[in-house]
Amino acid sequence: MEQIIINGGRPLYGDVSVNGMKNAALPVICACALNEEACIIDNIPPVNDIEILLEILASMGAEVTRLTKNSVEINCKNLVPCTSPSELAVKLRGSSYLLGAEFGRFGKSSVSHPGGCSIGSRPLDLHMKAFESLGGNCCHRNGRLEVESEGRPVGNTIYFDKVSVGATANAILASVLADGTTTIDNAAREPHIVDLAVFLNACGANITGAGTSVIKVKGVEKLHGCRYSIIPDMIEAGTYMAAVAATSGKVTVRNVIPKHLEAISSKLEEAGATVTVGDDFVTVESTGKLRGISIVTQPYPGFATDMQPQFGAMLCFAEGTSDIVENIFNSRFQYMDELSKMGADIKVDSNHAVIRGGATLSGAPLVCHDLRAGAAMVIAALATKDSSVIEGIDKIERGYYNIVGKLQDLGADIQKKVSVLDEQITATM
Ligand code: EPZ
Repeated sequence: MEQIIINGGRPLYGDVSVNGMKNAALPVICACALNEEACIIDNIPPVNDIEILLEILASMGAEVTRLTKNSVEINCKNLVPCTSPSELAVKLRGSSYLLGAEFGRFGKSSVSHPGGCSIGSRPLDLHMKAFESLGGNCCHRNGRLEVESEGRPVGNTIYFDKVSVGATANAILASVLADGTTTIDNAAREPHIVDLAVFLNACGANITGAGTSVIKVKGVEKLHGCRYSIIPDMIEAGTYMAAVAATSGKVTVRNVIPKHLEAISSKLEEAGATVTVGDDFVTVESTGKLRGISIVTQPYPGFATDMQPQFGAMLCFAEGTSDIVENIFNSRFQYMDELSKMGADIKVDSNHAVIRGGATLSGAPLVCHDLRAGAAMVIAALATKDSSVIEGIDKIERGYYNIVGKLQDLGADIQKKVSVLDEQITATM
């Protein structure tokens, strides 16, 4: 297994450019399955989750042509529904968007239960509620979720008891070609929901209200191809912003939409960093002397749960006490066990964590439990004046393209290394 070795305690200086947003690219790529014409998607992040999803579509009969590292042409004219390979679909949560896209175009879908980060229960009941509201019958069979309706989905009102990004995206996907109009109430307002709607409208869909909690989808007969560029990754951007706040230095994060970063920027300033906002960049400057703050995760435009671990790591280095309330997932504090190995003083009680900052952390062998927890380990190791080894780099690379190279360019002493055990195994082959 590949490891990351970090000799921390060095400030970060320079510029870093973020890639397209993984969590926006996943539903947009699945949305191509609604289309009988070719679409070209630009600014996709070349990360593992995206590669797997493209492989799934290709194995279902889509023509997938990589134009560049960040651009792909997808033609789903000959896509065969209900044939996604379970062994691939279980590797990521994003495969769940195939349910809405297949059901939306063919009136039926069958996809294995998705995988994704182990951050608490990740049911699909809201997704199923959406499909049933549109006339679908859902059942679980052989580890796959199946949806089928008499004909094409029929427009209806869908009310979500809880704000769900995935269920909102799947409700949009399932209703774009429906017979009639669909109203999605208590919808997620994340930028990647807007990105999905803008992409689909560029293909001829009729979606209004994306970005608000009430989205209307007027069903259309069919879609046409288009070329579309994915929005920048606000979570990748926020991760580098939190890193420089923790280590000290001055970093300009380029290719961003500053509005998407408002909650992150506001909390960094509250903690004592300086954030300067440009048209498509933000510059974060920090002396490394941060003060404790309170974080409460909420659906967008609140503070993103996907930034919670990174801030948890950063706040270990702040003077004073911080507290974090995690309202979205019921088990997203596992990474704090790893921080405690470094000497962090953290108490967790259910969805509430209290961090007593100011302790001098020491390097340690660290494990990535999931994608954002892995990013938190990197931040903690970068800010600690010691050496740390982080196992499970593959989990980080699911969502962060070239994180080692980008941090090296900012002055970090960070290397990727094949573990000694793997070297010994390779030597015997
Ligand atoms: C998406 O997950 C993201 N994943 C997550 O990012 C992100 O943390 C999450 O949205 C919240 O922003 C992708 O986009 C691939 P939800 P999703 O449905 O759609 C509950 C990362 O690090 N819920 O908004 O699965 C659920 O348990 C990943 O990039 C139901 O109860 O999240 C959670 O408590 C991690 N029933 C809450 O809703 C359902 O049917 C929000 O989940 C669906 C969700």
